[in-house]
Amino acid sequence: MEKIKELLLQALSSATSLDALEKIRIDFLGRKGSITTLAKNADFSKMSVEEKKGFGQKLNELKTFATAKLVEMQERLQASAPRRKSNELDLTAPGKGRRLGALHPITLAQMELEDIFQGMGFSVVYGPEIESEYFCFEALNIPHDHPARDMQDTFWLKNQLILRTHTSANQVRTLLRFGAPIRAIFPGRCFRYESIDPSHENTFYQCEGLVVDKNISVANLIAVMKTILSQVFKRDVKVRLRPGYFPFVEPGFELDLNCLICGGKGCPTCGDGWIELIPCGLIHPEVLRHAGIDPKEYSGFAFGVGLTRLAMMKFGIRDIRYLNCGDLRVNEQFSVLA
Ligand code: DAH
Repeated sequence: MEKIKELLLQALSSATSLDALEKIRIDFLGRKGSITTLAKNADFSKMSVEEKKGFGQKLNELKTFATAKLVEMQERLQASAPRRKSNELDLTAPGKGRRLGALHPITLAQMELEDIFQGMGFSVVYGPEIESEYFCFEALNIPHDHPARDMQDTFWLKNQLILRTHTSANQVRTLLRFGAPIRAIFPGRCFRYESIDPSHENTFYQCEGLVVDKNISVANLIAVMKTILSQVFKRDVKVRLRPGYFPFVEPGFELDLNCLICGGKGCPTCGDGWIELIPCGLIHPEVLRHAGIDPKEYSGFAFGVGLTRLAMMKFGIRDIRYLNCGDLRVNEQFSVLA
């Protein structure tokens, strides 16, 4: 047994490949290998009980030793075996599946809305998410001490900068840049210091819009809103205006949509047949003045579409938290062709 052990160690020390190793295994532990033969050929009839016991035990130890050494050598050889070169083509490798990406439901709703407005001659303008307090509030006729500031819980940054609480911040910014007459929409992400629940998010999307020209009236506002909404919902819609207060419009309105589910009869979704949808109004003369536009010469209307809300209505998404959860399984449900 000692001799076999010695031979085994000698053979292993000169093994340089896995093939050679396999040959060693067969030579020692194979059916006709030396260890196996030793066990087979042992003449037990000449041994005492004690001797048999000792022999069996030694033989087992030898087998265990040999197996362990072979495994150890195998691991060593595998670790140092030359790897496949990286530029070598492995024709046996399984094919790689490609996952098709999908657009976020808000992106889809935004793209559709931009398309519709552009079809009516509106430009699409994107403003900054980090905004000055001036454009977000002051210029919109919401001075420092105005209670309307409480309506929008604000994330304050340094140096009079904030995360914009609404896309209306683009009104004066854009009017200063392009002047009047103008038709433009400002889709984008807004931020408010809100606790999150199924219908509230601290990060959401709006699409502000405005028209400034000569002789713009509430009739223009209603006509544009009706046309846009008919295209969004792909059918004729009825709307109504109720008075609403926003410091940057005068008069200000809440535009309600006649419920598309019950046709205005009243149902669990709408309650009384109307869905509050778009706050809007005629641009306050003070806002035009901030933009360097003479309110005696020009007038205009502005509206704020809740883009997140619109996407939720369009796709039947009941919980706003799905939109920012980052789980691709949400996106994958919405096709580009939706
Ligand atoms: N900016 C307002 C908000 O986020 C919404 C709004 C109200 C926009 C009236 C308008 C408007 O353009 O005329 O609460």
